[in-house]
Amino acid sequence: MQEDVLNIKNQALAQIMSADSAAELEQIRIDYFGRNGRFTNIIKNIKRVSADERKRIGLIINEAKKSIEELLENQKRNLRESVREWFDPTVPGQKPEIGHLHPITKTINEISRIFGRIGFERARYPEVEWDHFAFEALNMPKNHPARDEWETFFIDVPENSKYGKTVLTPHTSNGQVREMLRVGTPPIRMINIAKCYRRQSDISHAPMFHQFEGLVIDEDISIVNLKGTLDYFAKSFYGEGRTTRLRPYHFQFTEPSFEIDISCGVCKGRGCKVCKSGWLELGGAGMVHPNVLKAGKIDPVKYSGFAFGWGVERVLMMKEEVGIPDVRMIYGTDLRYLSQF
Ligand code: PHE
Repeated sequence: MQEDVLNIKNQALAQIMSADSAAELEQIRIDYFGRNGRFTNIIKNIKRVSADERKRIGLIINEAKKSIEELLENQKRNLRESVREWFDPTVPGQKPEIGHLHPITKTINEISRIFGRIGFERARYPEVEWDHFAFEALNMPKNHPARDEWETFFIDVPENSKYGKTVLTPHTSNGQVREMLRVGTPPIRMINIAKCYRRQSDISHAPMFHQFEGLVIDEDISIVNLKGTLDYFAKSFYGEGRTTRLRPYHFQFTEPSFEIDISCGVCKGRGCKVCKSGWLELGGAGMVHPNVLKAGKIDPVKYSGFAFGWGVERVLMMKEEVGIPDVRMIYGTDLRYLSQF
């Protein structure tokens, strides 16, 4: 029996010395000290030897067990330390890839900030909208030909007796009368940024896009206030030295109406290959039509206002440092393109 103990001990020590992983050491521990382990079985058999022999063998077993356990511990520690030795702190780390906000989200945030600084409140109105707010309340009665300019998607649901058909809003101007009804008594200074939908798709139009709509209503608001606000936006968004100009135009919901141009950033308004005339077209604006004020339950004698509505994608594309050859790429999933922003 004594010989068995010493044999087992030597075998265990040899195995431990040649083990080179924590898992292997754990397996050795189980092989020897587990429920059916070789050492455990020896201890079970100790009953068979005579009483005084048992005492002597017991000491040998204890001593052997102790040295195996010690070596196991040592070896575990050695393995941990050798791993540490291999750690090279000078190896450059791996940078985890992190994304960033979508270029349109960033632009929307920037526009909100710019108008927020001069007291405009951010608003959002439904994208699935009634005809009433998208057209009728904006001085475009049913069958008015001006409606054709907005290539509208209609939703196939029963007509509402008061508000008419349901559409995907083709512009953020639906927020004008909604904001008037919400606020009640002016002043109003709203910036409504939302998704819009039109049935068109080419390099400068996506069927889903964004507009930002400004609406200011108070006593004594004039075109001067409109022009000042637009120049402020042009300088804040595109940089000092840029200005806007108003060109006569027609919208049913503003009178007078304008198209707004911004001076070209390349030639500073002198005329070049990019802009031809020195000016680039931004979008529509005008003084709120009295009928629209009435639809919003605001007295057109006491109050006046201006409104403008431009495309978020368009103003971004006109920042000449960003190359967007096709607006639809902004809504693609090609990360090689999107990660440039
Ligand atoms: N809603 C108009 C469009 O989509 C733009 C506009 C807004 C014009 C407000 C005048 C005033 O083209």
